[in-house]
Amino acid sequence: SIKAAAKDVAFDVMSFYRGNQSGQIPGLVSQPPPGGDYSWWTGAVLWSTMLDYWYYSDDGTYNAESLNGLVWQSGPDLQHPFMPPNWTASLGNDDEGLWGMTAMQAAEQNFPRPPAADPSWIELAQAVFEVQAARYAADDACNGGLRWQLSPVNQGYMYKNTVSTAVFLNLGARLARYTGNQTYAEWAGKAWEWLSDVGYIDAKYNVYDGAAIESNCSDIDKLQFSLAPAVLLQAAAYMYNQTTDKTQQSTWQTRLTALTDRTLTVFFPPSDAASTSTSTTTNATGPLVESACELSAGKTTCSSDMLFYKGVLLRALASAAQLAPFLRDAVAAPLRTTAEAAVASCAGGKSGRACAFRWADDGADDLRGAPPEELNALSAVLVGGVLREEVAAGKGVATNGTAKPGDSSGGGDGGNGASDSGSGSGSSGSGNGAGAGTGSQGNGAGKATGAATRIGFGLVLAALVAVMMS
Ligand SMILES: *[C@@H]1O[C@H](CO)[C@@H](O)[C@H](O)[C@H]1NC(C)=O
Ligand SMILES: *[C@@H]1O[C@H](CO)[C@@H](O)[C@H](O)[C@H]1NC(C)=O
Ligand SMILES: *[C@@H]1O[C@H](CO)[C@@H](O)[C@H](O)[C@H]1NC(C)=O
Ligand SMILES: *[C@@H]1O[C@H](CO)[C@@H](O)[C@H](O)[C@H]1NC(C)=O
Ligand SMILES: *[C@@H]1O[C@H](CO)[C@@H](O)[C@H](O)[C@H]1NC(C)=O
Ligand SMILES: *[C@@H]1O[C@H](CO)[C@@H](O)[C@H](O)[C@H]1NC(C)=O
Repeated sequence: SIKAAAKDVAFDVMSFYRGNQSGQIPGLVSQPPPGGDYSWWTGAVLWSTMLDYWYYSDDGTYNAESLNGLVWQSGPDLQHPFMPPNWTASLGNDDEGLWGMTAMQAAEQNFPRPPAADPSWIELAQAVFEVQAARYAADDACNGGLRWQLSPVNQGYMYKNTVSTAVFLNLGARLARYTGNQTYAEWAGKAWEWLSDVGYIDAKYNVYDGAAIESNCSDIDKLQFSLAPAVLLQAAAYMYNQTTDKTQQSTWQTRLTALTDRTLTVFFPPSDAASTSTSTTTNATGPLVESACELSAGKTTCSSDMLFYKGVLLRALASAAQLAPFLRDAVAAPLRTTAEAAVASCAGGKSGRACAFRWADDGADDLRGAPPEELNALSAVLVGGVLREEVAAGKGVATNGTAKPGDSSGGGDGGNGASDSGSGSGSSGSGNGAGAGTGSQGNGAGKATGAATRIGFGLVLAALVAVMMS
């Protein structure tokens, strides 16, 4: 039933996608403003969600679009990874890094590789890390960290932000695990220490946005959004999981535990609807709330960027709980509450199943049925299932694909998904998506196989909620 619900929400997500039609640009949720509603980076979230959908459901219906979209936006060459000339004028390290993380995920999950003439996923992920490491090393403002914007003419060039540094750190942690090369792990440690030294991660593990270089990064903007802690706690889980040195591992365990605990407390506040939650290890009950901008019902002030963060946090928490099983108990209850509330909110719009942004207050909100709402709901359904392997596809988190680092011929062949979790089936048997020979400009689109009817969907949801509550 989780697969069936996910399939319907995935269909609704992709029903917005125009990038496979002639005259449209592949890879984007929409044209970035002012031409469209959503920033360039949100494409990275779209494909990262669709890859997880494929990976956990074995449904490769959207693999061709995913592959073409990622390749199209991957930049002109490996010296400019995910820096397509159209968008470089407003490019941030965070934007580039989020696309890089999606390429990393594609490598880890053995997603079908790009056409032979194009770089492999792992090469793209490494290339993003390399250019960001070079920027970090060449810039001693505030003694470390990454600037937000790349272009000196943009105001954000004089601002060092948490997400930019966090995406670099996240790539470092995952490349370290994937390649075994300790240089990546050292960078991850160094970036974390800097974030903590400047107070972007404070002593209580609140995670703030960033600060101007003019203030030596001390005048911190203290708003808290869920994207930065999501990227950081997933990174800490990768570091904890792979570190063999006991002292180091205990350092990462401390960071991971404290950050996860604080993140649950800040973003999963108890709500009346959740008062029956069985969570005992934390006060967090959920459902997930984007606290800084999701105010009372009908008063959501989140920007279109902020609307995309929830799904990223949910999938990061599930990934962390798989890499660090000691977190499972703390994470499972709030994720389940969130999945139930998200699914219950999918009852509006013309289709009768459009999902809401707000999951507390029974989804009472006017934000409904647009790409971020559907992507967040798809993430919620996926994590609701992933944490119960017995009802999911039987897969753990993938952290090592088969492509060798620097091996441009490597990459997933779409037929042997990697899973090293012990609970994995070891075979994703996905050969149903984009195959070799799908040109990066071809549309090779798979056909969606039809949405369930309203009634069918309602039954699926009822069954899903029953499974989750059991
Ligand atoms: C850049 O813009 C042109 C003109 O709109 C478009 O054809 C092309 O696909 C865009 N490239 C990327 C990578 O978005
Ligand atoms: C490890 O990674 C770093 C950073 O990419 C690279 O400079 C170095 O050559 C790599 N070392 C090995 C042994 O591959
Ligand atoms: C600037 O901030 C860094 C990091 O917190 C600190 O190490 C350094 O001493 C500060 N420099 C000045 C001039 O205050
Ligand atoms: C849970 O709530 C109690 C009482 O308000 C508080 O003392 C405790 O620190 C909270 N625990 C967490 C993990 O926030
Ligand atoms: C590392 O992650 C795997 C899942 O990928 C898990 O089975 C294993 O227990 C984790 N190792 C540690 C030390 O927690
Ligand atoms: C584009 O993708 C959508 C969603 O997968 C699909 O319904 C549609 O048929 C595709 N269009 C083309 C022209 O391939």
